[in-house]
Amino acid sequence: MQLIDGKQTAADIKAEIAATVAKMVADGKRRPHLAAVLVGHDGGSETYVAAKVKACEECGFRSTLIRYESDVTEEELLKTVAQLNADDEIDGFIVQLPLPRHISEQAVIEAIDYRKDVDGFHPVNVGRMSIGLPCFVSATPAGIIELLRRYEIPTRGKRCVVLGRSNIVGKPVATLMMQKGYPGDATVTVCHSATENLSEITREADILIAAMGRPLSVTADMVKDGVVIIDVGTTRVPDASRKSGFRLRGDVDFDNVAPKCSFITPVPGGVGPMTIVSLMRNTLLAATHAIY
Ligand code: GUN
Repeated sequence: MQLIDGKQTAADIKAEIAATVAKMVADGKRRPHLAAVLVGHDGGSETYVAAKVKACEECGFRSTLIRYESDVTEEELLKTVAQLNADDEIDGFIVQLPLPRHISEQAVIEAIDYRKDVDGFHPVNVGRMSIGLPCFVSATPAGIIELLRRYEIPTRGKRCVVLGRSNIVGKPVATLMMQKGYPGDATVTVCHSATENLSEITREADILIAAMGRPLSVTADMVKDGVVIIDVGTTRVPDASRKSGFRLRGDVDFDNVAPKCSFITPVPGGVGPMTIVSLMRNTLLAATHAIY
């Protein structure tokens, strides 16, 4: 069994990006600039946005954080989005989700100029991805694909089972795994809450991508020997022994499943660090006008 070290891979990629940025600056170009909009004080969102700002520093990017209290109106937020769209000093930006219930997330996402949508959530980017055109791919699926590439895990003709059909992970990663080329060319099955005989399907998987957000739900009897497992789960479970009061749990029963795997991602330290680095890659793409 080989552990897929997302933390190290993410550090390698950040160093590559920082080297590219240093060259850009030496050539007289300005640094890539990412803006993040954070509404309210949700613990998870605060942590993610802080990590994104820190990653910007590590990559040599400029970053701007725009904060609103949770009573901000949709109108105010849409105005900020319009300003960020028009600001030539900003290459890309994100609006951290979830948003308060009185604001339509879809309206906000669709208001973002798709050329600055480094989250890859805009329907233009989602549509372009599904037909294989240049686009911003959302961070988690892009991070998963990059891990498969860097660990040279064969995907062509392999059976890939995706657990979960969310718009930000399950659906896009299934699309990417079936796309022509490497990593891709896999035979993909997507399972979800209405799937019958789940274990029969998962036992066929050469590559299993678990993204349903239910801790410990992939058990050893559900996988075959030699499987590659990508665990996207990051559920916070209470843990009094930690300063934070919680620990992260993946969707996979790691201790019992790992011995059967050829490769597996740990939680934490697997997909998570890759997600943030994918956002940095997208910001670099935005700054170099690679998506138009
Ligand atoms: N909330 C959870 N994940 C994400 C993400 O990738 N982008 C944004 N904007 N919000 C999130």
